[in-house]
Amino acid sequence: MVQLTLPKNSKISKGKRWPAPKGKDGKAATRIKNFNVYRYDPESGENPRVDTYTVDLDTCGPMVLDALIKIKSEIDPTLTFRRSCREGVCGSCAMNIGGANTLACTMAISDVSGSVPVYPLPHMPVIKDLIPDLTDFYAQYASVEPYLQTRTATPAKEWKQSEAERAKLDGLYECILCACCSTSCPSYWWNPERFLGPAALLHAQRWIIDSRDEATGERLDHLEDPFRLYRCHTIMNCATVCPKGLNPSKAIAEIKQAMVARST
Ligand code: SF4
Ligand code: SF4
Ligand code: FES
Repeated sequence: MVQLTLPKNSKISKGKRWPAPKGKDGKAATRIKNFNVYRYDPESGENPRVDTYTVDLDTCGPMVLDALIKIKSEIDPTLTFRRSCREGVCGSCAMNIGGANTLACTMAISDVSGSVPVYPLPHMPVIKDLIPDLTDFYAQYASVEPYLQTRTATPAKEWKQSEAERAKLDGLYECILCACCSTSCPSYWWNPERFLGPAALLHAQRWIIDSRDEATGERLDHLEDPFRLYRCHTIMNCATVCPKGLNPSKAIAEIKQAMVARST
């Protein structure tokens, strides 16, 4: 019988419970929330652990990112995570909160009942704590050559596009590359090196459908592969988790249709 052994760093040990904060009047805070946060430093040689932090909601902003910033500023400066815009536009604070991939800055603390579990995006190598290594994710994005490619001479003024042609880019161009979709996709978990994943494929379709682009054939040739495109089995996790309300699975289906259309 095959015996499977989990790698050491996939086993999470019990972490530290940090002291509860005092309220504004120096007495124990009454409106509190616990955050169970994944902690891991590969350089330490120790297994990951889950630390519990208690946050006084009366002195904290409404979003999970507010709580993480408060924890880092007031309780534990070693807690490590990415964030930048706090407005849901940079994509850097993507993590797994309450069991679902989302943006910490747009996820309300009040939307999670009980303690709030906070983990890095799943199935990616962890650089530290809540920071996944997105090197391969960005390489897959780069592989679809996400920029306008033309063959005809550059027009004197601009590449023109009708309103109807421009409208075809809606639902595609808004992607902020947060990686919530790809890291929620079982097909991507199973074939992370060979399946491009929903985010990269959504961007591929953004350029395939662009009326100004003249590299459609080459773009489809690149995706005509049993793994890069066809590992999508329409499980739809990507559309469920996208914090921008996009539907990568629909974009993937449209690429598959374009493949069929050009072969008939
Ligand atoms: S629809 Fe395709 S890309 Fe989206 S989660 Fe499912 S398998 Fe992955
Ligand atoms: S499609 Fe949505 S979930 Fe996926 S990377 Fe873009 S914004 Fe994030
Ligand atoms: S901090 Fe930019 S999307 Fe959350």
